[in-house]
Amino acid sequence: MNTAEIAQRYLTYFEKNGHTIVPSASLVSNDPTVMFTIAGMVPFVPYLTGVVPAPYSRVADVQKCIRTNDIEEVGKTARHGTFFQMLGNWSFGDYFKEGAISYAWELLTSSEADGGLGFAERDIWVTVYETDDEAAALWQKIAGLPAERIQRMGKEDNYWHTGQPGPGGPCSEIYIDRGAAYGPDGGPIVDDNRFTEIWNLVFMQELLSDVRSKTDFDIAGPLPKKNIDTGMGLERVAMFKQGVDNMYETDQVRPVLDRAMELSGRRYGAVNEDDVRFRVIADHVRSSLMLLSDGVRPSNEGRGYILRRLMRRTVRAMRLLGVEGASFPELFSASRDAMKASYPELETNWSQLSTAAFAEEETFLRTLSQGSTILDLALQETKTAGERRLSGNEAFLLHDTYGFPIDLTVEVAEEAGLSVDRSAFDTLMQEQRDRAKADARSRKRQLADLSVYRDLRAQGETSFVGYDELQTTTRVLGILVDGHSVVKAIAGQTAEVIVAETTLYAESGGQVADKGTIVGNGFQLEVIDVQKPVAGLISHTVRVVEGEVAVDDEATTVVDGANRHAARQAHSATHLVHAALRDTLGSDATQAGSLNRAGYLRFDFAWGQALSSDTRSEIEEIANRAVDDALEVTTRVVTLDEAKDAGAMALFGEKYGDVVRMVDIGGPWSRELCAGTHVATSAEIGLINLVGESSIGATNRRVEALVGRDAFRDLAVERTIVSQLSTSLKTPREQLPERIAELVGQLKTAEKRIAKLESQQRSAQVPAIAQEAVALNGMQFVAHNAGVVASADDVRDTVVKVRELLGNQATVVAVTGVTNDRPIVVIATNEGSRERGVRAGALVKKAAGVLGGGGGGRDDIAQGGGTNAAAIPEALIAIEQELRAL
Ligand code: ALA
Repeated sequence: MNTAEIAQRYLTYFEKNGHTIVPSASLVSNDPTVMFTIAGMVPFVPYLTGVVPAPYSRVADVQKCIRTNDIEEVGKTARHGTFFQMLGNWSFGDYFKEGAISYAWELLTSSEADGGLGFAERDIWVTVYETDDEAAALWQKIAGLPAERIQRMGKEDNYWHTGQPGPGGPCSEIYIDRGAAYGPDGGPIVDDNRFTEIWNLVFMQELLSDVRSKTDFDIAGPLPKKNIDTGMGLERVAMFKQGVDNMYETDQVRPVLDRAMELSGRRYGAVNEDDVRFRVIADHVRSSLMLLSDGVRPSNEGRGYILRRLMRRTVRAMRLLGVEGASFPELFSASRDAMKASYPELETNWSQLSTAAFAEEETFLRTLSQGSTILDLALQETKTAGERRLSGNEAFLLHDTYGFPIDLTVEVAEEAGLSVDRSAFDTLMQEQRDRAKADARSRKRQLADLSVYRDLRAQGETSFVGYDELQTTTRVLGILVDGHSVVKAIAGQTAEVIVAETTLYAESGGQVADKGTIVGNGFQLEVIDVQKPVAGLISHTVRVVEGEVAVDDEATTVVDGANRHAARQAHSATHLVHAALRDTLGSDATQAGSLNRAGYLRFDFAWGQALSSDTRSEIEEIANRAVDDALEVTTRVVTLDEAKDAGAMALFGEKYGDVVRMVDIGGPWSRELCAGTHVATSAEIGLINLVGESSIGATNRRVEALVGRDAFRDLAVERTIVSQLSTSLKTPREQLPERIAELVGQLKTAEKRIAKLESQQRSAQVPAIAQEAVALNGMQFVAHNAGVVASADDVRDTVVKVRELLGNQATVVAVTGVTNDRPIVVIATNEGSRERGVRAGALVKKAAGVLGGGGGGRDDIAQGGGTNAAAIPEALIAIEQELRAL
């Protein structure tokens, strides 16, 4: 039974039992406190905690998940995979333990012919939480399981939470016995390898406030409703149904492994170390593919960094299998073909995601060769310094800055006969992890606070009526100060205010929050920010300017009209620039992010190289033509499917929901799903002035533009500058570029002539300086201060010429000078003085020390500098003393 079919059977079974089937949410979690969807329940947290009322009472789905905390374990065991799919059924205040156990038992043990999964009853074992007599009794009653196959375990295994404040509860896990060949008897409490977990039924009943570890947490109290959250590992079921030993050999993963075998010419199953590498490749390629498909792009932070790590580990594993060149084109295609039955979007998005994947591999292969150069240098320096060990600092820098893996550093160092200070490296890594954890902890705190919104959200969604009106009179539903619910806020305080309906736009979809005020009888509030802390709830952060505001007060939300007008212009202009980009560059230039506020827009898109100035002008021209054409802007509320059929451009990971808002400018030419505020016709935008185009990472570009009045003001400033230039150069505007090029040319010629004259002048002084030579310890010694000079090179030039003029007799020439208020010293020796043991480098070091600086160099000529020009005479005396002391 292939993986896609197992998933289909699961969904069909639960649909038949009254569950609404919903599509998988994106791997990129909507919850700002977690990086990825790590379990099927992540998208449902607001429903499980009751912060947002659940729109359905029973749901089932197949959720894409990523867990990377065990990344080092991947490939070493049968079970660790970074990407996996979790089959889940949910009850939000509907059925509880009995229902969950009955459904699980029936689906697992019904025959394949009846649509079930066909597991043999005798192979099934379960665990329950140590005190959960109820669940144990239900397993006996429903499944008729003998008491010894119902085992009890503590919090470590049978209490489930996400590791963050939020919902949790005791759970019951279902295991399959793989047989005596896999380990000792005695059930999951003895051996969890022979007895492999396939399904976890969580009885969500508590809200956790502080979670310190898996077993150490505080329970704030019961959840408003009891819920069921279950998770069945699709890969694990596939492993059993396909009779293979691990997930890497199942139908959706194995083809990548096979391709890696072909590319490397090595065989899976021959050498244990190679097998681990094959599995790493099979796992990481699939995870990377799925992350790319959900819009993640490799970068140096957050999600992008995890993706980069997965891809780089793949490249590294391929190299260890002996493949040095690019292999992603082969590996990623194999993964796409294995996954597309379940995820057809892999084929639709292929061109964009493969471009990003291949570019990352190329970059990393380049990094590896550059990193090798940097590493070679570091190794050389280590040896020169007489050390046998590369410093932890150096190894960390290579890892952190160049993405150069530590095991590679160790390997290359060993080849050069050196070791690496691993413990210093590990300390630095630990410090970095601690910093990341502290950051994660501070983000966790925010989640705990979300429960304060529950009662407010329970009163319904805040309705946004600001598309058509700038003012509305409504009622204050709640006030929060410092995260706590209060009855009123007084002048001078900052508070969050929630009202029944508002005209103030909350930051979302790249558009920043509206500016404005909230006023009422005797109070005035200045709006500082507007956000949606939980889905459907709009919260205004305000400063109480005057009076006091209390819950239940009548209040009027007032939008700053001029600011809103400019924000509308900017948001509609963003859509025009997006459409113009696609007209110019094609559909691969997909949106990667945007920001717009009054007068300004920024738009990021997938594109690998800089835009030429012609392309930039073309994009600007298309967008401005659309302004000039006064295109009608229409908004429609439609279902997501209707919008997709109409070809609307949706961002990756668009949240599914019943309805979406579709914004058209000029019909289908610009059609996007967008909740932002827009002008009524494109003519209102006035003007779009593209002011910048830059790179953000290897695979994305950013354009920036000024819009409306700000666009005009910027052009007006430019006009003033041009007119000033025209006046001062006495040249008409059109001829300015040529005139300036001509002037720059003349300047260069003049500089060359001056340099030549100066050099001649210096040469003329050489005989006089040579005359200053004194006899010292059997040598000729010149100590000359040249005073203010143009550069150190000039001093060097003089020194060399003086030495030449003084001939073959043992000679030392030292000349000082001052440039940009800093003293410099250059010393030269000749063969004769070197035979006497004089070293220019050592002398310069001495002299520069006196000058308050440092320097050094070769034996024949060396240069140094300092900070104290007044010490020049002293420095020259120090040189003389050194020579005298020889
Ligand atoms: N949320 C539970 C798990 O991830 C089902 O195991």
